[in-house]
Amino acid sequence: MTERNASADSSEKRAAGIAASQVVESGMIVGLGTGSTVAYTIKELGRRVRKEGLDILGVVTSYQSEMLAIEAGIPLTTLAQHPKLDLAIDGADQIDSNLNAIKGGGAAHTREKIVSASATRFLVVADESKTSVQLDKVVPIEVLPFAKELVIEKIRGLGGKPELRLALRKDGPVITDNGNFVLDSSFGVIQDPESLAIKLSSIPGVVEHGIFSNVDELYIGKKDGSVKIVRK
Ligand code: A5P
Repeated sequence: MTERNASADSSEKRAAGIAASQVVESGMIVGLGTGSTVAYTIKELGRRVRKEGLDILGVVTSYQSEMLAIEAGIPLTTLAQHPKLDLAIDGADQIDSNLNAIKGGGAAHTREKIVSASATRFLVVADESKTSVQLDKVVPIEVLPFAKELVIEKIRGLGGKPELRLALRKDGPVITDNGNFVLDSSFGVIQDPESLAIKLSSIPGVVEHGIFSNVDELYIGKKDGSVKIVRK
């Protein structure tokens, strides 16, 4: 990616992330997703907490979003203390025209799914490049290390091509915040995301897969700085 593209890309992410933050009101318990797009939402919410007295509690989805939220000054709580959230906001790796999404590019999709499923309303923030008529990106699948070989065999049985996600230096596997591995699995064009989701969830040893079918609203940041909102 050229520097020019990188900056255009981040301005789209910024537009989407900040637009979605405007939905947050005092008194809300808010799920805070993981990734570079929702990072703009978290920073903006922190600014409103500090400068405007916005009175919210956040529930994080990863150590990454925890660090960012603490740095931004957002008071945090846990699902044990507040099991019902008013809202969750998160990014996505790809999202189709029916608002099915693939998540987990940052290996945080298990906690992201739990947090979003605990929320009354789930907003996804993304730049335009993430949108697609149908899903065809790799599906991150978090697996118990003990079950890796069995899960690989079962994914292949479903027509998938699983690859163990490696750490940046390629000297070992990526380890999730939950202590597990990730199998990035290609299925080509996914004709029926909900059916594949059910099949993946039924494999012993799969902790969570990255297909999300619970998105209520999508905020798409565009190159001209505008934001398109798509509702289910
Ligand atoms: C984290 O595991 C992912 O689900 C992210 O939410 C997703 O990868 C989007 O990240 P970006 O906003 O950085 O593209």
